[in-house]
Amino acid sequence: MTDKIDHASQDEAPVFPSAEFAASASLNAEQYRAMYERSMNDPEGFWGDIAQELHWFSPWSRVLDWQEPHAQWFVGAQTNIAYNALDRNVNAGLGNKRAIVWEGENGEVRTFTYAELLEQVKRAANVLLNLGVVKGDRVTLYLPMIPEAAIAMLACARIGAIHSVVFGGFSVAALADRIQNAQSKVLITADASYRRGALVPLKGKADEAAAHAEVLEKMLVVCRADCNAPMQEGRDVYWHDALAQASSEHTAEPLDSEHPLFVLYTSGSTGKPKGVVHSTGGYMVGTYLTTKTVFDLKENDLFWCTADVGWVTGHSYTVYGPLLNGASVLMYEGAPNHPDWGRFWDMVQRHRVSVLYTAPTAIRSFMRAGDSFPGRFDLSSLRLLGSVGEPINPEAWRWYERVIGGGRCPVVDTWWQTETGSIMLTTLPGAFPAKPGTAGLPMFGVDPAIVTREGDEVQDGQGGLLVIRRPWPSMLRTVYGDDARYAKTYWGEIPGVYFAGDGARKDSDGYITVMGRVDDVLNVSGHRLGTMEIESALVGHASVSEAAVVGRPDELKGEAVVAFVLLKDGHTVDAAELRQHVSTQIGALARPDAIYVADALPKTRSGKIMRRFLRQVAAGQEISGDTSTLEDPSVLERLATTPAQ
Ligand code: WT7
Repeated sequence: MTDKIDHASQDEAPVFPSAEFAASASLNAEQYRAMYERSMNDPEGFWGDIAQELHWFSPWSRVLDWQEPHAQWFVGAQTNIAYNALDRNVNAGLGNKRAIVWEGENGEVRTFTYAELLEQVKRAANVLLNLGVVKGDRVTLYLPMIPEAAIAMLACARIGAIHSVVFGGFSVAALADRIQNAQSKVLITADASYRRGALVPLKGKADEAAAHAEVLEKMLVVCRADCNAPMQEGRDVYWHDALAQASSEHTAEPLDSEHPLFVLYTSGSTGKPKGVVHSTGGYMVGTYLTTKTVFDLKENDLFWCTADVGWVTGHSYTVYGPLLNGASVLMYEGAPNHPDWGRFWDMVQRHRVSVLYTAPTAIRSFMRAGDSFPGRFDLSSLRLLGSVGEPINPEAWRWYERVIGGGRCPVVDTWWQTETGSIMLTTLPGAFPAKPGTAGLPMFGVDPAIVTREGDEVQDGQGGLLVIRRPWPSMLRTVYGDDARYAKTYWGEIPGVYFAGDGARKDSDGYITVMGRVDDVLNVSGHRLGTMEIESALVGHASVSEAAVVGRPDELKGEAVVAFVLLKDGHTVDAAELRQHVSTQIGALARPDAIYVADALPKTRSGKIMRRFLRQVAAGQEISGDTSTLEDPSVLERLATTPAQ
């Protein structure tokens, strides 16, 4: 693990926000410092005041109850995040303001005002109740990026059902696993979705998953394409029929602040993906405050977070955070390069997007496609740019700032995780200069440190492990169905602190650079994948007896998946078939870029695979470093240096 944290990049020169942006920014450096200090010295006072900006049906008795590793925020209070995102804003006079502007890949545009979105959510809430969903039940969503995804999430939240969104690119097997793990009786899906002009048959995949998930009783099917999917009598219901028949009257359910809002599965270093559980009140306050301050929201902004709702970024910054702030959001269904690499810029121009939040992997692809694509469009509506999901290399950062932002827009790099629920490190735009490649300073209430394995703080400038030393409102509460795993993974690795799994270092200004995962988790195009998950998919193939997966630095994706496989006696392998196998088991995003066939893997005497050496081979480097702990060092000499075809 140390090979990653030793390679910290050099400090980049700070880039200051323009005087114009700084003058209109809602927080300056002193205000940030005063608020941050209060959040450290008087966290309960600080968070209590922020939470008062939202609606609570009944008050809390205490802001925080911390019994490590379990936190309760706004103890005993009752609220509802969908009420806060919709009814509260409609009551405040925003009924006619645009809540969601959606664009389909085929160019179709649909707009929902706050009042219209509220009506849809009320109807959908009644539909769920009519299907027998009660408070605390889990509902799985397997949907494309269409407004119904947000409506379904908010409808669940409105009645206290716990949503579990499964990214539409995940396989049948991955979907079935997640339905089964969450014990969802209801699945919400669509007939199909559009991707680069082609139809992806979601309903067909949902049907196959249902065959492996006995717990499932009902399927609600949104018509996105031709409404031609086969429907199973007694089980499947069309969304549009059900909504049309349902009442548009519904009162949001007052929920305990700690009532679970959602489960979202994410990969870890071992075992199957974990169901990260987020609460209602704390998550609401965290996403509300970070959206408001990090994106410096203004009344007329059109905020575009390009993440799919299948990931936490889509939960927090496409749906909950912006709507809690009464903002208008843009939602896009399709691929960034359909019909060509100008799509995003065409949309920015047509919709007058003012804040854009996207991932480094997308930025690098745009960069490679060339400046002529953004050059064809008027991007003057943009005033702020954000980056999330993986470390952004300074070159991509500068291109984003110069070519997309026209040198006018601050770029906020934001570090956070599925588990943290909301942004943890960033530089507030207008208040601070950014340093390309460096996430920045802690958000309010976030108490980070860079430490050794033993938990001792390292000196500024040195690499170490990123930890958070106290609970924050939007932190995960547990791992669904496995609280012991929660305690061990997050609060048990390094005593007394939350361990993020990332390597990082801090400079003398307190800016933190996050260098990447130090565990067996890969970050491929901003998507998190467990090496063990891919390894178990590979050994599930008839010809493979053993497998080891590592990441290889990749210019576009950040990391690429590289697999080393051992074959069973008498078997040969077709690399294309193995790739397809992984794709079927997990999803196309996990497909290995290269597969090496080996006759043995480098292991310690206790049988642990030494991935460090495999990473070197995968990257085309000479094998170097201490080989004395290997059981059989000659294995290294026998490792293939070219991948199988
Ligand atoms: C992992 C979390 C945050 C939502 C999307 C990903 C990496 C994320 C940054 C950043 C460097 C970053 C970390 C983290 N990461 N943002 N700005 N700079 N690394 O959520 O799938 O839970 O992945 O993404 O390695 O641990 P996720």
